[in-house]
Amino acid sequence: MKDVAGKVAVVTGAASGIGLAMCESFAAAGMRLVMADLHDSPLEKESARLRAGGAEVFAQATDVSSWEQVQALAAAAKAKYGGAHVVCNNAGVRSMGRIWETSIENWNWVLSIDLFGVIHGIKAFAPDMIARGEPGHFVNTSSVAGLMVVGTGNAPYNVSKQGVVALSESLWHELKEVGAPIGVSVLCPGVIPTNLRENSDRLKPKGAAPVQSRAITPDMKPMPAAEVGKLVLEGIRKDRFWLLTHPSEYRPMIEARCRGIVETGEVFRGKAT
Ligand SMILES: NC(=O)c1ccc[n+]([C@@H]2O[C@H](COP(=O)([O-])OP(=O)(O)OC[C@H]3O[C@@H](n4cnc5c(N)ncnc54)[C@H](O)[C@@H]3O)[C@@H](O)[C@H]2O)c1
Repeated sequence: MKDVAGKVAVVTGAASGIGLAMCESFAAAGMRLVMADLHDSPLEKESARLRAGGAEVFAQATDVSSWEQVQALAAAAKAKYGGAHVVCNNAGVRSMGRIWETSIENWNWVLSIDLFGVIHGIKAFAPDMIARGEPGHFVNTSSVAGLMVVGTGNAPYNVSKQGVVALSESLWHELKEVGAPIGVSVLCPGVIPTNLRENSDRLKPKGAAPVQSRAITPDMKPMPAAEVGKLVLEGIRKDRFWLLTHPSEYRPMIEARCRGIVETGEVFRGKAT
């Protein structure tokens, strides 16, 4: 989607971190914004700030784990701006704990946001985008954890993020199959300084293990969220599927994992703190 000025971008998890940085880079490119985040997030404050900077912004409190609320978001984007061109399914949380020690409630919490939040976003927005026939783009936020499992204590996150990669590849094929002019990107961030740990710890179900700051891939130099926002905008303009924040750092790990699959039969064991 080369021409983004004036187009409508919907971003979930828009009040903080990577989602907010996407909104900032889209606003700078002249896009109209639909910002969605939880009711008790800084959504009002951040949307007002972008509006004050000259952007056209509509904000709606939305819990992406709710199919009804994401449908309401799509209806609001249609009523307000005639529908979405770019949809960034970005909201996410983390949990900590071994598979068998994590409660079913905690499993459901992570999967309902990190995986079902993306499914809801595609299901709610794709039919209208396809019917309108205009150029569009989906950006689904996965993680380096969507490409490989490093260390322990992150299974719900790993499962969700690998699910988002599979979902995004499936979406790419299915949109091509129906001839829709809609691109897909899967964003796989490495280490990005945001409020992910604090927000996850604050929002987690009662009794869940504390979410500590533990890097999934500790050797990576953190990339500022603003850089990720620019990377996403460029990915949309150039219609790139894979958006990796740390490609040279990932490369030996991805190659080692693939060698395990096709040559040695061994599980990839990366370093984790
Ligand atoms: N920060 C990193 O290093 C990193 C690395 C890989 C992937 N990611 C992914 O990037 C995405 C954005 O995370 P971030 O790092 O910017 O964290 P963040 O906590 O700063 O932002 C996430 C936003 O999602 C919102 N959110 C949480 N639950 C929600 C729900 N149910 N419905 C709607 N919004 C909800 C939060 O309120 C928050 O504003 C996530 O999917 C995360 O998994 C982050």
